[in-house]
Amino acid sequence: WVLMATGRSPTNIAVIKYWGKRDEALILPVNDSISVTLDPDHLSATTTVAVSPSFPSDRMWLNGKEISLSGGRFQSCLREIRKRACEFEDEKTGIKIKKEDWEKLHVHIASYNNFPTAAGLASSAAGFACLVFTLGKLMNVKEDYGELSSIARQGSGSACRSLYGGFVKWCMGKKDDGSDSFAVQLADETHWNDLVIIIAVVSSKQKETSSTSGMRDTVETSPLLQYRAQTVVPSRVLKMEEAIKNQDFESFAKVTCADSNQFHAVCLDTSPPIFYMNDTSHRIISLVEKWNHSEGTPQVAYTFDAGPNAVLIARNRKTAALLLQKLMYYFPPQDKDLSSYLVGDKLIL
Ligand code: DP6
Repeated sequence: WVLMATGRSPTNIAVIKYWGKRDEALILPVNDSISVTLDPDHLSATTTVAVSPSFPSDRMWLNGKEISLSGGRFQSCLREIRKRACEFEDEKTGIKIKKEDWEKLHVHIASYNNFPTAAGLASSAAGFACLVFTLGKLMNVKEDYGELSSIARQGSGSACRSLYGGFVKWCMGKKDDGSDSFAVQLADETHWNDLVIIIAVVSSKQKETSSTSGMRDTVETSPLLQYRAQTVVPSRVLKMEEAIKNQDFESFAKVTCADSNQFHAVCLDTSPPIFYMNDTSHRIISLVEKWNHSEGTPQVAYTFDAGPNAVLIARNRKTAALLLQKLMYYFPPQDKDLSSYLVGDKLIL
C-alpha cells in the first residue's frame, strides 16, 4: 500500500526583513520580521508526500528532478515531524500505522514551484512550509500552526511565516533551544483587501549569493547589523504592527521602503560587499520615490529581497493600474530584462 497527502503553500514577502542568525543550526534570527503572504494561486509550492512499506529510502524530486536529501535542514524537518507523528487508521483500506512505526517508514516527496526558484522570490519559504505542512498532514500530526512554523523555520527561516495567510510576524525568541522562535498571524488575508502586490521580475536568473551564506558573512563582518537588529528593528516592528492594524498606508509604505533599503545597506556593509539589486532595481526605486513625492503621500511601497526583483505594493487597484502603466512605459516589454506580474488579481503580463 501507499499512503499520500498533498499540500500547497504560498510564498511570503517580508516588509521587515530577517537577515542574520544568532544560531545557524537551529535557524534563530537576530531580529523579529514581518511579512505578507501572497495568494497561493500565484507564487506557491505544491508538494505530495507518500509513505509505503515498499520504499527502501527517503527520496525527493523538485520540479521533476531528483535532489539529494543529505542536507541537515531537510533532515531536521523530517525528524521533528516524525517525533510528533500519531497513530493512523483507515477503516476503508485497512491501513493502520502505529505511532512507533512512522520511524521505520520511508517517504517519497514530489514538490513543484509555480515560479522561478532562487530568483530572490523566496522559493525556499514556500517549499519548506509546504513540506512541513504536508508531512504533518500525512503523519497525522496534531500540533497547531505555531508549532509547525517553528519546524518549518529549521528548514529555512522565512518558511515559518508561510504557515499563515495575511500579515505574519516571526518572533525571534530569546531561548537557546529556539522553542519561542515561531510565527504568529497579525491579521488574516481578508484584512486590508485594498492592497495589490505587483512583482516586477527584473531577472529570473539564479542569485549569485544565497541568503544563507550572505547573512553568515553579514553577521561576521558588518558593524551596521548589530545597530539594525538591536536599535532600529524593534521600533519598526511596533510601527509596522500599528500600520497594519489601522490600515495606515503612509506609515506602512515608509517603514517597508526604509527597511528594504537598510537591509541592502547592511549587505553593502558586509565584507566583501553583497549586491542584490541592479541598475533596473535602482531605476524602479527612483520611479516610485519620485511618484510618491509628487503625490505628497505614498502611493506605492517597494521592497527587494536577496535578488534584483522588485516587489511593489500599491495602496489600491487604481494605483496598481497606474503603476503597471508606468512600468510598461519606462520598462517596455521589448526590454527583455523585465516582465511584470500582477499578483493578487490573476493578471499576468
Ligand atoms: C532577504 O529564509 O532564505 O528574503 O534561513 O538561511 O534559509 P535561510 O534564509 P532565508 O532568508 C530570507 C531573507 C530575505 C528576508 C526575509 O524573507 O525576511
